[in-house]
Amino acid sequence: MQEFNLLSSVPKVIRDVSARTINKEENRRLANQFGFEYFDGSREQGYGGYRYDGRWVDISQRAIEHFGLKSGDRVLDIGCAKGFFVKDLSDTLPGIDVIGLDISRYALEHRHPDLSGGLVQASCDALPFPDDSFAAAFAINTIHNLDPAGCLRSLREVERVAPGRGFVQVDAYRSPEELDVFEDWMLTAKTYCQTQEWLDLFDEAGYTGSYYWTILEIDGS
Ligand SMILES: C[S@@+](CC[C@H](N)C(=O)[O-])C[C@H]1O[C@@H](n2cnc3c(N)ncnc32)[C@H](O)[C@@H]1O
Repeated sequence: MQEFNLLSSVPKVIRDVSARTINKEENRRLANQFGFEYFDGSREQGYGGYRYDGRWVDISQRAIEHFGLKSGDRVLDIGCAKGFFVKDLSDTLPGIDVIGLDISRYALEHRHPDLSGGLVQASCDALPFPDDSFAAAFAINTIHNLDPAGCLRSLREVERVAPGRGFVQVDAYRSPEELDVFEDWMLTAKTYCQTQEWLDLFDEAGYTGSYYWTILEIDGS
């Protein structure tokens, strides 16, 4: 396994954690449907507008370099939402075959307008693809939406379809203070651990790919 900050080019955002403490239970219920409210409703219920902003262009370049991807390779984005990474990876490396997978019908129906095919509705813990069928498989902030047993199944699935060539990013914390901030902000994660606990879960799953953390830092960044 290798720690790798695939999203290092994404600027940190200031989060208004206090707004998320109002109507928390109702907002969590709506967010967990992964429909309009989560993607395009208010910031209290999710993204507050999941819009294309070009951030995936730099991420695509780093992904290509990290995995040595080339034209003709087949790549999977698990939890692709509206397919922005699928689009930018396809544009950055002509000839690559990128498939996006997400559980959200809403996100797939509101895909980037440049995408016609290549998106599949399924769950990350039951990937509808043969063993060893991808040159790389990405699951960015996706598998922690399942409980720990579901995370284990999902990690095994990433490993199965792209042995040693996965990239998984998950919600994590390093201190009680970071956990407090996280629990105020978080809407959908069912599994969030200290980084070492995640590493133990990766080991238990037999996951050998790359990984990184989404950590809400104390200064609000
Ligand atoms: C935090 S968003 C991340 C989206 C995208 N990967 C990104 O980084 O911008 C989590 C995504 O995981 C999807 N998701 C949630 N549960 C899932 C599941 N069981 N299987 C597949 N996708 C799931 C959601 O619909 C959503 O698109």
